[in-house]
Amino acid sequence: MSQKDSIVELLTGKDRLGKKSKIPAKLDFLQSATGLVLALFISFHILFESSILIGKDAMYKLTKMFEGEPFIEGGEPLIISALAFVIFVIFILHAFIAMRKFPSSYKEYQRYRAHSKLLKHSDTNLWFIQISSGFVMFFLGSIHLYTMMTQPANIGPFASADRIYSDVAWPMYLMLLVSVILHAGVGVYRLIVKWGWLDGESPRANRIRSKKITQAAIVIYLVLGLVSLGTYIKIGYDHKDDYGSRYTEIHK
Ligand code: HEM
Repeated sequence: MSQKDSIVELLTGKDRLGKKSKIPAKLDFLQSATGLVLALFISFHILFESSILIGKDAMYKLTKMFEGEPFIEGGEPLIISALAFVIFVIFILHAFIAMRKFPSSYKEYQRYRAHSKLLKHSDTNLWFIQISSGFVMFFLGSIHLYTMMTQPANIGPFASADRIYSDVAWPMYLMLLVSVILHAGVGVYRLIVKWGWLDGESPRANRIRSKKITQAAIVIYLVLGLVSLGTYIKIGYDHKDDYGSRYTEIHK
């Protein structure tokens, strides 16, 4: 397809032969695929990050493992930068494709609200949660990923806790945590419904079951994330007079 053809297809919604354009379906698939990758990433991220609940040693060892310590002596923080860059590209791509689902004017938004009130359909309200949490995440997630890309060596029980407490990053993490967990939870539920993954013999009953499972996952992840954040705040508070000193096997 030439560039001119694809522009015409985008504008008219029809291809050169007058058939319905396949671009929206392709974009839909790409949005689902990038969303699924990000949801998987964040579910492991929150788990790894909660290693601080086991102890500072556990979090330190995990950080070093991600820096490739078993293979590279002392670890290489650039590995974290590279990982953060890859996630950043997927994150931006996902947000960019999602932008077409934003209401394009205040009037359109008002129409949506009226519609949603009229229908009282909970799945219509989920769309609103997705749009607003996605909007918050776009900014806060970018700040966080930029920090991870540019300061990959500043991750660890004390380095992270200093950032969270002394550098006052905790309000940002609190907002990011709530929005990312809601967004990922609702997003995965919508994927299950949209592509009919768990429909089986009785789609309706399975839809209700999927909803309950996602609600439970949202609560579990929220609690885990909040308790981890609280632990980092406590460590940061205790460490405030030693701000900047790092946790190593020798210096604890
Ligand atoms: C490769 C990319 C990433 C790395 C290396 C990374 C690393 C970290 C680290 C080390 C922390 C602990 C706090 C700190 O040191 O500042 C943290 C916290 C957090 N990250 Fe990430 N992160 C990445 C991507 C993301 C993404 C894409 C999101 C969501 C958009 C995210 C959401 C969060 C949240 C919500 C917290 C706070 C968790 C809590 O309060 O329990 N991270 N991240």
